[in-house]
Amino acid sequence: MRDVSDPQTLWDKFDAAMNPIAVQLERQMRMQRAQRRGFSGMIGKFEKQRIQFRNELMVMERDLRRSLKGPLAKHVDSADVRLLRLLRRRLHMMQRITDTMQLISKGKARPLYPPLRKVNDVERVQAFAMDTAMAFLHRLINPNPQSDAAKEIGCYSDIPLSSSAFIAHAHAAFRVALAQKRPEPLRFVDVGCGGGMKVLLAAEIFEQADGFDFDARYVDTAQKAMQQMNVPRCKIFEANALTFEGYDQYDVIYFYQPMSDTDQLEALEKRIAETARPGTILIAPYLRFVQSAQALNCGRIEEAVYVTGTPQKEADFLRAQAEKIGPQILRPAQIIRTHGVDWLRGLVLACAVNGHLVEKTI
Ligand SMILES: C[S@@+](CC[C@H](N)C(=O)[O-])C[C@H]1O[C@@H](n2cnc3c(N)ncnc32)[C@H](O)[C@@H]1O
Repeated sequence: MRDVSDPQTLWDKFDAAMNPIAVQLERQMRMQRAQRRGFSGMIGKFEKQRIQFRNELMVMERDLRRSLKGPLAKHVDSADVRLLRLLRRRLHMMQRITDTMQLISKGKARPLYPPLRKVNDVERVQAFAMDTAMAFLHRLINPNPQSDAAKEIGCYSDIPLSSSAFIAHAHAAFRVALAQKRPEPLRFVDVGCGGGMKVLLAAEIFEQADGFDFDARYVDTAQKAMQQMNVPRCKIFEANALTFEGYDQYDVIYFYQPMSDTDQLEALEKRIAETARPGTILIAPYLRFVQSAQALNCGRIEEAVYVTGTPQKEADFLRAQAEKIGPQILRPAQIIRTHGVDWLRGLVLACAVNGHLVEKTI
């Protein structure tokens, strides 16, 4: 004998059974991998409930089809039919979440930086074309010559790192931040942002993307550009990197050799390493920093990505964890449809902080 007779009772029964499992699963996914306990067993429990739910839902759909003498699609005016269709959507969502959680549990390692492509590689040639076009856009946004004041204190002018190199570093840094399980939202800053192109790119990856520059003209230009492009959640301001006091407000700090004078550059590296919080991720894509990092107790993750206050052994461990984070990025404004169920939303968000988007699993 069946113990449920209508779709609402069916849902209430499974909601009560699955909600506590979902809460535990979400908690597990928000932990560092090494601290998880019994994660795959919990996925199994969730899946068992899902299959039971699917079976009972199928029986209920069949019974209703029989009593209505035809396909349910022809009876959308019936409240029961509408609820059954909603339950189907919830079921599909659960299926995709299970698939995603299984991927997270397996934790396939993907390199933070894919192997360098050969000169004749098709994608490398395409990236070069894109970088060239982005360099033109960069000049369009910031055609200003460097100000005398900036020149006098030894600032480099707004010389851009290529966009594809920046995205590779920023994406690697993002995966490291997810592996650290840092509190969200992730905050990025470009130290010496020039016309702000890197802030624009970073806003596609981090929830908050800021930039500052010594050169007042650059700052003015970048502010106007961000406003015109309506880039959300970003702030451009004027500051001197050598005296800036807010490095501890950021999770990811990017600096592309802002000044030519080596004493000043050394002072900047020291200030950032010492005033950022331990565990802050640095993106420093220039050769000199490889040596500075050791002296400043910044562990090197890979290429241009470092972590402050972190011995190399811990940085190596963190890199291995970051490689097990998936590649996907949940855009802050992305709409997540979870058919009115809060615990489904919780699971989708917890999957996203492991670098996997539920709708992109299959
Ligand atoms: C090499 S460009 C990098 C531009 C941009 N971040 C990029 O990666 O494409 C260096 C920038 O740092 C700025 N800069 C140099 N010294 C600075 C300082 N002490 N404080 C703030 N900005 C500085 C320069 O004005 C310039 O815009």
